[in-house]
Amino acid sequence: MKKILISALLIAAASAAPAYAAGDAVAGKALYGTCGACHGANAEGNQAMNAPKLAGQGEWYLFRQLSNFKVGVRGTNANDTFGKTMAPMAMMLADDTAIANVAAYITSLPVSQPAATVQGDVSAGKMAYATCSACHGADGKGNQAMNAPILAGQSDFYLVTQLKNFKSGARGAHAKDSYGMQMASMAKMLADDAAINNVVAYINTLK
Ligand code: HEC
Ligand code: HEC
Repeated sequence: MKKILISALLIAAASAAPAYAAGDAVAGKALYGTCGACHGANAEGNQAMNAPKLAGQGEWYLFRQLSNFKVGVRGTNANDTFGKTMAPMAMMLADDTAIANVAAYITSLPVSQPAATVQGDVSAGKMAYATCSACHGADGKGNQAMNAPILAGQSDFYLVTQLKNFKSGARGAHAKDSYGMQMASMAKMLADDAAINNVVAYINTLK
């Protein structure tokens, strides 16, 4: 509890985003009904809907992204095609409590390994990942203290889209998106689409 409180205070101090506090998974289950249509019943992700896996992701991170979508910090850029489909869904969540509850439900779901769909040069990707590991961890398990989400075991097609979006400014360019901005400057280090595929192909090897 103390740990959660301290992280909530740190997040509140670092940005205008609402402070995260753990939600109620039972109450969140009812809210998840609509989400399953795109993200899958177990939040395993669905590439046909461009919807990423959410199961296994940090609850604090799900909370932040849902808040960002709800207030327009994410999913409002004209070139953010998929983010724009998600933003109205987050707006259906009434308040921070509803967001925390649905995030808690998602984190209670079983976690499975998605099929790899991205091809790339794993050894080149491994070298590029050395920089990423400072925040996302050598194992890709994320690091809340660095505000960096879990990458290992998440939908690879989605990781590629996000790296392209961060690079182009479709994500992470909003004036209030302080964490997205940090990541955007990192994505710019990946020279081209091949470099993006390489690093994601390496992330696919982190189980
Ligand atoms: C119409 C389809 C659709 C529905 C319904 C939907 N989503 Fe999404 N969601 C998406 C898409 C597409 C993305 C990826 C956006 C992108 O590529 O930037 C996404 C992204 C997200 C993300 C960001 C994940 C990350 O790693 O940053 C979260 C969290 C999320 N959705 C949660 C939810 C929740 C909770 C609900 C139900 C309240 C929901 N979604 C309903 C399509 C949907
Ligand atoms: C300085 C710390 C830092 C470094 C280094 C870094 N990231 Fe990030 N990354 C972040 C933060 C913070 C976020 C969360 C942004 C947000 O809240 O919207 C993020 C988000 C992401 C996302 C979006 C995940 C999702 O679920 O939406 C991807 C993909 C990603 N990073 C990949 C990488 C890769 C690949 C590298 C190395 C080339 C890298 N990151 C290097 C801090 C970092």
